[in-house]
Amino acid sequence: MMENSPAYARALEKLRTAPRVWLVTGVAGFIGSNLLETLLRNDQRVVGIDSFATGRPANLDMVKSLVLPEQWQRFDFLEGDIRDLSQCRQAMHWNDDVPVEYVLHQAALGSVPRSISDPIATNDANITGFLNMLVAARDAGVLSFTYAASSSTYGDHPDLPKVEDKIGKPLSPYAVTKYVNELYADVFRRAYGFRATGLRYFNVFGPRQDPNGAYAAVIPTWVFGYLKGGDLFINGDGSTSRDFCFIDNVVQANVLAATTSNEDARGEVYNVAVGERTTLAELSTMIREELERRVSLPATDTLYREFRAGDVRHSQADISKSRRLLGYDPTHSVAAGLTQTMDWYIALSRESTAAD
Ligand SMILES: NC(=O)c1ccc[n+]([C@@H]2O[C@H](COP(=O)([O-])OP(=O)(O)OC[C@H]3O[C@@H](n4cnc5c(N)ncnc54)[C@H](O)[C@@H]3O)[C@@H](O)[C@H]2O)c1
Repeated sequence: MMENSPAYARALEKLRTAPRVWLVTGVAGFIGSNLLETLLRNDQRVVGIDSFATGRPANLDMVKSLVLPEQWQRFDFLEGDIRDLSQCRQAMHWNDDVPVEYVLHQAALGSVPRSISDPIATNDANITGFLNMLVAARDAGVLSFTYAASSSTYGDHPDLPKVEDKIGKPLSPYAVTKYVNELYADVFRRAYGFRATGLRYFNVFGPRQDPNGAYAAVIPTWVFGYLKGGDLFINGDGSTSRDFCFIDNVVQANVLAATTSNEDARGEVYNVAVGERTTLAELSTMIREELERRVSLPATDTLYREFRAGDVRHSQADISKSRRLLGYDPTHSVAAGLTQTMDWYIALSRESTAAD
């Protein structure tokens, strides 16, 4: 692992030789800001739209600090809301002028528990917003449309590993919204010949994933939990398992899906993961050990509590379809991804302690 796959190396090389115009929705979020960073580092022009519903200006500031000034100048940011069709249409041009070629649609309200407590807000952003983006992109005649789908679409289907065409019933409003995205994408292909490619992400983690708030994902929550000390909660008995996927793998899948010249690959749905399974108990030990290699940790108590409503018990992807059709080849295992993530969280935790 670690070396870029030949297909990804070729795609990046081609983009650097002939730069393109991209739109990243949800650009101030975790995944969106990482996509932005890679695209700018490779000299692309990028329009970004975000309403800051959950994303943060600090994520954009950090990307600015990581790229060259001339690369940052190729970024055109629109503070806007995808629930408004006119703002989606506005985002289809870089600097109000140059048409967008590739769309990476990430904006949505994530989190299963958030969708259980406020299904209407999740529906508005994830379904109305998605449909607006499809219509705006179709009318703008973009070359490709790639969107963030979700492993939650597998719902209650018992098979492991998960294969794209075998899904069960959704277990949460969030899962419904992500499944409806796939249905709309399929209908746009049949009705308008517009192909949108869905990437079913499996528990993504990495730098810039928000550790704060009630709806934070498990890895940032535990990293911060260990750094700050106190009680650390495991939902269920620790045997729940996930195919945790480091952000670089997700960025790779987006670039490959957006730029593929394989006509058969466009408009499909793909698993994006590593293809391995880690239990929550194993994960908490891995995080603790990674942190202990760098800093001395305050005392924590690990407490087990009820399984969480709407959660799938086990999840692991079969990634053979994305390997075969997109040339996807994950570069980072969970362990390698955790190693790359920890320094960022330690720095963030020092900043937040200094600000307290
Ligand atoms: N992180 C994961 O493990 C994971 C897993 C499966 C799918 N996904 C999907 O990936 C995408 C990105 O997730 P993330 O983890 O980066 O979450 P995030 O919350 O960090 O990013 C989402 C971004 O979308 C923006 N946004 C939300 N509603 C908006 C609206 N109405 N208009 C404009 N912008 C809006 C938010 O402000 C935020 O910046 C989402 O579609 C999510 O459902 C994520």
